[in-house]
Amino acid sequence: DWNSGNVIAEQVALIQAQVGTGKVICGLSGGVDSAVAAALVHKAIGDQLVCVFVDHGLLREDERRQVEEDYVKATGVRLVTVDVREQFLTALEGVSDPETKRKIIGREFIRTFEQAQAELIKEAAAEDGDPIRFLVQGTLYPDVVESGGGSGTASIKSHHNVGGLPEDLQFELIEPLRTLFKDEVRAIGAELGLPAEIVQRQPFPGPGLGIRIVGSITQDRLDLLRKADAIVRAELTAAGLDREIWQCPVVLLADVRSVGVQGDGRTYGHPIVLRPVSSEDAMTADWTRLPYDLLARISNRITNEVEGVNRVVLDVTSKPPGTIEWE
Ligand code: XMP
Repeated sequence: DWNSGNVIAEQVALIQAQVGTGKVICGLSGGVDSAVAAALVHKAIGDQLVCVFVDHGLLREDERRQVEEDYVKATGVRLVTVDVREQFLTALEGVSDPETKRKIIGREFIRTFEQAQAELIKEAAAEDGDPIRFLVQGTLYPDVVESGGGSGTASIKSHHNVGGLPEDLQFELIEPLRTLFKDEVRAIGAELGLPAEIVQRQPFPGPGLGIRIVGSITQDRLDLLRKADAIVRAELTAAGLDREIWQCPVVLLADVRSVGVQGDGRTYGHPIVLRPVSSEDAMTADWTRLPYDLLARISNRITNEVEGVNRVVLDVTSKPPGTIEWE
């Protein structure tokens, strides 16, 4: 019979046996899987683990604080935050093609993570000559099945080259969630005392708000979308609907403008799209029939509180044919 306490004890013992006195690194995304994986590893080996969190500026409101403060307080984990907001904005300047955006974000993310690794590896080696040899990944059982089950080591060279690292550096992977499903991972996270905002978090894409701006990405557009998204999330939570909807992307149509009227003046602003979906596994989805009064409240708040937005529209497309995200 499944019991989160047993799984934790079992995984802690396995991790201790695998790692010994070795040093371990883990990237935190703000999502459930990496947060629970890191917390398990920390429980097993304490400060032999160091976590890296990349702030690429495409995060949602309050996400960085939740990791840096709430998560660190709950776990006691050593955390290094790398602030590359400027670097990402520069790399993405003028780019509006969705696939190009995704490629740039992925490339910059790996580069940033590897640079942070390289620095930590140098520091660790300088301390006592013992390098970081292990990398934690929050791989779940469905990911293992999907990718054919192979695992073992991750070569740092398989991504991009990093200055100052040995050519043949290999990490041994630690994947404490490999046999688990999402709801089991959430149960373990709760048992480990992780903050509810992290354990109960809905899916959020790695490229973040970057693929929820239709058009090119600027600081102003990110700020605007972040505000609208925060309003939607707050209202869905207040309505008690977090468990009922799979996720609700909030999308800024930055290349579209429409005429409006506000106070006694004409406006020429951008639309915000609400994309609430119900789903089992994100492969297919239906649009969620949110209550009209909730939609009205969200619409009123966004148009009143977010400057530059004068229209809120609802996406009523299932998947297929629409995808959940707009890009
Ligand atoms: P689509 O848009 O393909 O999305 O219907 C399906 C699910 O995947 C999420 N998604 C991503 N998650 N990195 C991620 O970690 C990504 O690049 C990415 N793109 C989409 C999306 O939010 C939805 O839950």
